[in-house]
Amino acid sequence: MRKQFLQNILKTGGIAAMALSANLAWGQNVPEVIKETVFDINTKKVGAEIPHTMYGIFFEDINYGADGGLYGELLKNRSFEFPQPFMGWKTIGDVELRTGSPFERCPHYAHLSNRDYKASVLQNEGFFGIGFNKDAEYRLTFYARVPEGGMAELEIHIINTDRDTSSQYASEDKITVSGKEWKKYELKIRSNATIAKGEFRLSLSHAYNNSLDLEHVSLFPAETFKNDENGLRKELAEALESMHPGVFRFPGGCIVEGSRLPLRYQWKNSIGPVENRPLNDNRWQYTFGHRSFPDYFQSYGLGFYEYFRLAEELGAEPLPVLSVGLACQYEGVNEVPLDELQPYIDDVLDLIAFANGDPATNKWAKVRSEMGHDKPFNLKYVAIGNEQWGSTYPEHLKPFIEQVRKQYPDIKIIGSAGPQSEGEEFDYLWPEMKKLKVDLVDEHFYRNEEWFLSQGNRYDKYDRKGPKVFAGEYACHGAENGRNHFQAALCEAAFMTGLERNADVVPMATYAPLFAHVDGWQWRPDAIWFDNLTVAKSCSFIVQSLFSNNKGSHVVPLTMNGKAVAGNEGQKGLFASAVMDDATGELIVKVVNTGEQPQMVNFNLAGFPKGIHNGTVTSLHAADPDAENSVENPLLVTPSTTPFCALDQRAVLPIPAQTFVILRIEK
Ligand code: AHR
Repeated sequence: MRKQFLQNILKTGGIAAMALSANLAWGQNVPEVIKETVFDINTKKVGAEIPHTMYGIFFEDINYGADGGLYGELLKNRSFEFPQPFMGWKTIGDVELRTGSPFERCPHYAHLSNRDYKASVLQNEGFFGIGFNKDAEYRLTFYARVPEGGMAELEIHIINTDRDTSSQYASEDKITVSGKEWKKYELKIRSNATIAKGEFRLSLSHAYNNSLDLEHVSLFPAETFKNDENGLRKELAEALESMHPGVFRFPGGCIVEGSRLPLRYQWKNSIGPVENRPLNDNRWQYTFGHRSFPDYFQSYGLGFYEYFRLAEELGAEPLPVLSVGLACQYEGVNEVPLDELQPYIDDVLDLIAFANGDPATNKWAKVRSEMGHDKPFNLKYVAIGNEQWGSTYPEHLKPFIEQVRKQYPDIKIIGSAGPQSEGEEFDYLWPEMKKLKVDLVDEHFYRNEEWFLSQGNRYDKYDRKGPKVFAGEYACHGAENGRNHFQAALCEAAFMTGLERNADVVPMATYAPLFAHVDGWQWRPDAIWFDNLTVAKSCSFIVQSLFSNNKGSHVVPLTMNGKAVAGNEGQKGLFASAVMDDATGELIVKVVNTGEQPQMVNFNLAGFPKGIHNGTVTSLHAADPDAENSVENPLLVTPSTTPFCALDQRAVLPIPAQTFVILRIEK
């Protein structure tokens, strides 16, 4: 009888209409059948504040997240600095590598001559091809000179690689280069076709019988995110913007540590003129032999200045992670002796100065100012070390903490609990972090569905006196071999209600990793997938966005039979949290039904005045738990929003099986 009742409700009318009619028709006389699941929400009791930083993003150059991804540059190996200097380029005719360009940290350049050949050509393949959109503009820049003096001419073409195209040229332009001195040239190019995997060709023409030197050949979409010149791929950055993240962690991940110490991320190499930033290794080129990408390097074109700018543009707190003097411990022991740590500590101190210092008195702040940002970036957090473990980590971390505290007492320091979500190393590091008095401890969990569903109460018992927790990397790696299926996202949503309820203990959380190129991934699942033309927000990213865009301002208690709703015995697979939004005066309730049965939830809204309360219900559901958004079908699973209504202190809402629901109700 009850089952049939629920099935009828779910088949007919939809959630919102049902909720509305249930409230208005029944008033106080709610039938017994829908009283079974009762959530008591006390809107008068002000709980933990939801900090601005609560839901954020974690960025690492993995899966071609930076070069070939978020960074707008379309050409690979633009400065001819790869170990194989023409990797990414086809060379035709008389093209050779020379050394001694104006950029001492990127000294190589290409020399083209057409003495013996009909044409000398450099043709770039981009990152898994280059995506061009019909009628879109692209900005070509390069440095060039005519070594013998006089003039030379370059023919420039976007190459349509479609076998059936009548002309390979999707654009035709020419540019003249003159003089023996290196000069910067710029040209806007328009594509006459949409091409998923195009190429880009520069040919030395026969208009003048001269050779030509070329350096730092760069091609960006004319339109980048916020139209920054050394900018970001617009649709990827806009996807981040749509989440309104409160914190932005960069530049990783393991990439911070490096597979060996000299290969660690060195932020000082990632700032200043982009032409002179030295190439670095990218460990994700070779970390997994079964997914190896020999052309994967870090150009540092997207460097720390750009990261700080992006944080600012997104309205997120910047959260840089720096090396603690330990290379990736998974790769063996490679650590700086404790008495040689000072340059690493200086990297942290100088970074704080770069971000916050006065350009008149500090050399790093001066670099920031010269790059175009005179105002400080207002850095508040710094994480030191990523996934470190063992006694060597606290030993290395200690001197960093002493010096940062001394010079910058207001900066909050984040230590690490290691790569595991529990266990011996985790249990060892937590008390060590307490002893060192770090402000937050970074916990990571890449775990399966069962783990996520078992962790609803994880933070209820954490010490309220600190340190706080930064859930710095997490994702449900489900049975489906790490795919971004709906089921995994649902488990993450369930887990996140526990984060939200404990916002006083966990003030920041970032899903990881963020981006993956469909042709170049090393790690999955990932929040956002893309190819050269299309972006697909995974169900996990949608869950992140739903939490972030409905984060409210403070927690209010939500209980079922006096207990937090965290998927425990007798709770029917339900997880829930509630917050008030002071800005809008709304109550926001998040309910995740991870069970196989629909549940009729009866909400008691203590503190609500009499009358009708309007609101909305947003639901995320997929009939197939394996459903996932992809670049072929980016909108397969999307949330839907309908009106909702509560009466007096009561609301009733059927929550379909395997569904994440967000209720917003005006108080
Ligand atoms: O997010 C991918 C990797 O997972 C990170 O680089 C590392 O910190 C973790 O092991």
